[in-house]
Amino acid sequence: MQVSLIVLAAGMGTRMNSDIPKVLHPLAGVPMLHHALAAGRGLEPSRVVVVTGHEAEAVAKAALAFDEGIQTVVQDPQLGTGHAVAQAAALLDQAEGEAIVLYGDTPFVRVETLEAMLAARARHAVVILGFEPKDPGRYGRLIVEGDQLKAIVEYKEATEAQRTIPLCNSGVVCAEAKTLFRLVAQVNNENAAKEYYLTDIVELARAEGLLVGYVICPESETLGINTRHQLAEAEAAFQTRARFDALENGVTLTAPETVFFALDTWIGRDAVVGPNVIFGPAVTVESGAEIKGFCHLEGCHISRGATVGPFARLRPGAELAEDVHVGNFVEIKNSVLDEGVKVGHLTYLGDTHVGEFTNIGAGTVTCNYDGVMKYRTEIGKNAFIGSDTMLIAPVTVGDGALTASGSVITEDVPAGAIAVGRARQVNKPGLATKFFERLKAIKAAKGNV
Ligand code: UD1
Ligand code: CA
Repeated sequence: MQVSLIVLAAGMGTRMNSDIPKVLHPLAGVPMLHHALAAGRGLEPSRVVVVTGHEAEAVAKAALAFDEGIQTVVQDPQLGTGHAVAQAAALLDQAEGEAIVLYGDTPFVRVETLEAMLAARARHAVVILGFEPKDPGRYGRLIVEGDQLKAIVEYKEATEAQRTIPLCNSGVVCAEAKTLFRLVAQVNNENAAKEYYLTDIVELARAEGLLVGYVICPESETLGINTRHQLAEAEAAFQTRARFDALENGVTLTAPETVFFALDTWIGRDAVVGPNVIFGPAVTVESGAEIKGFCHLEGCHISRGATVGPFARLRPGAELAEDVHVGNFVEIKNSVLDEGVKVGHLTYLGDTHVGEFTNIGAGTVTCNYDGVMKYRTEIGKNAFIGSDTMLIAPVTVGDGALTASGSVITEDVPAGAIAVGRARQVNKPGLATKFFERLKAIKAAKGNV
């Protein structure tokens, strides 16, 4: 079945009190918009259109960062949800198959729920996703009769009696694409808000003699984010579920409530994650790897048998092969560490490749940046980088080579060589004793200040 997704993300999000468009506020390490896109991706849609408006360029960029195949269309001015969907018509009104409308600020809709809506399409031309919130507040209300949906009344238009209806509109709509666009084209703005309400398609469909139905999902899926309070609640809800899922999937979390996941974190079975670990976006951890406490990870891959931390920072492009050991106060960026590499302590590796079984001594720094450009460091296999080595990139250290502790390595080191790049030590017998005596005499002459 072909499915097109339309994600509404033009709104300003006034109540966020922010210069950043609402759908770009981070939730679980990624822009809020990515959550709806990820739910929709589960349906393997043939087309995805994001309707942008407020800060259209930034929102389009975030959509493309999720998937280059996404199309965007600008809604200007923003005249309501019906008007927003109509903007996608130019791209989709000839599309075969189904169309599903999602909101960029409603992140937790599950793909199973969308599938249930698609299944309900067998009986109804239009299917709306409803829910029964604890506090129905200002949501639109569903007027139903048996399994038929007769109308959605917006809170502003609703009578006192209608406002007591507990069943509310989530905003998610499913219909054949051609039907959806035919209906939204007929929506007008003759209502209290002078907006083009997407919800009016229910009555328009019924006027055509079409059947309209609804599917009900738990409130947790339709949580809409309008304020920073709701954003914080959404983050907490996401983390609670992600921790639960990790434990279910066979990951050990020694202190689950202190571990924070991103939307796309992937952790294999029998991995162990210590307390206070933060997963930024795009982290994959293979089975049996161990992340000790207080690590911060993003954009990295940790292979089977590797150990990381405590207090390590892995940044985008950090690739740890099997049995790599990264210890405390180590930062790794855009670097590949082959099997069995050890980087135990106090080290920065950036734009580097380290060959298998090489040992990187404490305090090693790849000096990869001259203030303007970045350069690479290449270290061979079975090499030994002495403690406190500064590797001035671009530089290569050959297989099995050794750098002496405290060296500043500015030239390539051939395989099997020892490189010593430090001043020679000079001992001056008795000089320290004389030096301290002189200092003490000066202090005594001045008084004890
Ligand atoms: C809408 C529904 C309401 C439902 C509620 C659920 C309508 C008329 N009302 O109301 O029944 O209970 O959502 O949260 O549909 N947007 C655009 N362009 C616009 C207007 C909105 O892209 O011109 C986007 C917003 O960015 C947002 C979504 O559509 O992602 C919902 O818009 P919003 O104004 O929040 O709708 P509500 O008034 O909450
Ligand atoms: Ca809303």
